Parts: sequence; structure tokens; C-alpha cells
Amino acid sequence: MRVPSVAGRPAPRAIGAEVEGAACVLRERIETRLGDDTPIAAITMGSGLGGLGAEIEDALRVPYEELPGWPRPTVVGHAGHALIGMLGGRPVLGLSGRVHLYEGGPPDRVAFYVRVAAVLGVRALFLSNAAGAIREGWRPGELMLISDHLNLTGTSPLIGPVVGAEHRFPDLTFAYDRELRAIVLGVATELGQTLHEGVYAAMHGPAFETPAEIRMLRRLGADAVGMSTVPEVIAARALGIRCVAVSCLTNYAAGVLDEPLNHEEVLETTKLAQPGFQRLVAESIRRFS
Ligand code: HPA
Repeated sequence: MRVPSVAGRPAPRAIGAEVEGAACVLRERIETRLGDDTPIAAITMGSGLGGLGAEIEDALRVPYEELPGWPRPTVVGHAGHALIGMLGGRPVLGLSGRVHLYEGGPPDRVAFYVRVAAVLGVRALFLSNAAGAIREGWRPGELMLISDHLNLTGTSPLIGPVVGAEHRFPDLTFAYDRELRAIVLGVATELGQTLHEGVYAAMHGPAFETPAEIRMLRRLGADAVGMSTVPEVIAARALGIRCVAVSCLTNYAAGVLDEPLNHEEVLETTKLAQPGFQRLVAESIRRFS
């Protein structure tokens, strides 16, 4: 929805109204599938990690195009639908496919679904992504729980007027919820899975980094690098939503090996990591309060 401009000044976009519109349609679908239950978490499936959607029991599939204002992913490896159903015995809202900053448009597009989830009363966000491994000794195919991030995208989804009840200056000290992280780490131990914990550097993309940039990121304290997740976490924290995020390390970051990177390799590795990732998410969700 566009607000007419006043006196030649560009009109502010009515983000709140757009979010409400999408939430209204999605709420009806949630009621159809879950009755009075609210999803305990929204689960964002990163590049090549949409297979988790098949684990959501009797999922009601809602194509993004049926949700007014909902941005559509344009990248291979990202489907475009929401899934409403049960995972680990708990009601969830799965999001198979997200948009990234590099796909263009205003930065708030990437956090649209987070704002919708907030309107629907969802209180936790479980994000996933594909990322390049920077930390020495960490290998493609392994998983990393994000403990903190570096926002190097140069932007924020919160730029512009405050939307609804969001905090103008959200605190990011505990951006990645300690309690939820402990649950996920505990599940990984129980399942005998390797789960590193580290700092995720978010880049704008879409080009992969140069080897010099990766050396810089390592010096800045980054353990993995990717092009997503951080804008959504920032928006979620502005809304008081608890966040937990897992990176699937899909490749050595640029320059770690003397070889070029490509998106196909990223998708190939997520395929190998999927089964472990899916069990980790489902069992963690079972234990969420
Ligand atoms: N860099 C940025 N984004 C990525 C990478 C990477 O190496 N791998 C997967 N997503």
C-alpha cells in the first residue's frame, strides 16, 4: 500500500499496514491448520536448507504470492512458501525461502516476515543459513551456532520511521538468546553432532568476498561469513522476539583454499548437511518453552 505524497515530499511507506495485510491472510491459514494455537517459533530455512519443510507434519503450504506485500525470493535454492504445521511436536511457522539485501529494494524487505510473525504473536525465531567457514579447522558440512554477529552490510532493516511497537534503538547485547542456544547445544551433544559456536559476519553481497576481505574478517573476529540472517535478527530484537541461528558451513571462505567459490558448491554441501541439521532443529524445537 502506498501513501500519497504530500507537498512534493516522498511519502513514507506504510510498512505497518503492509505487514498487517499479510498477517491477516496468514492468521486465517494458521487458524485453519492449528486452531487456536500460535506457532511457538518461526523457522527460516536458508539456502538449500528447505528440506526441513518436509519434516513439518501435515504442513499447510502457503505460497508467498498469496500473502499481500510479501517479498518473493529470486535465488536458486530458495523456494517461496510458508508452512504451517507441527515440528518436534510443537506448532511452527516454517519459511521456505527468504529474500536477501542483494536482491535489491529497501532493506526492510528482508525483515518483512519477521514483522508479520511478530503481529501473529510468534515469540521465537530459529534462523538458518549457508555460510563460508573462516575459522581454521572448521570444515564444510559442519554446523555453527551463531553466538554473535558483525553487521557489515552497511545497512539495517530499521532505517526509516519506527514501525509499530518496535524499539528505536534495540539492544543487541543478547541478540542470540542464551537459553535457546543452550537448548540447541544440548541437543547437538545428545545427538553426537559437531556444533561449533562462533561469530557470523554478514556481508551485503552478492559477490563472494575476496581473500583480502576474508583475512580482514578473521582479524575482526569472524568465524563464518554469509549474506543473510543479521537484518532479520535486528528486526526481531526490535520486536522482542528471541533469536537462535545455525549456519551450515558450505565452503571454505575465499582464499582459505587456492580455489574459486561457487553457489552450486554451497547447495551441494547443504544437501550433505541437511539430515543432521533437520534433526537438530526438530529436537531443539521440541524443547523450546
Ligand atoms: N561468503 C558469503 N556468503 C556465503 C558463503 C561465503 O563464502 N558461503 C555461503 N554463503
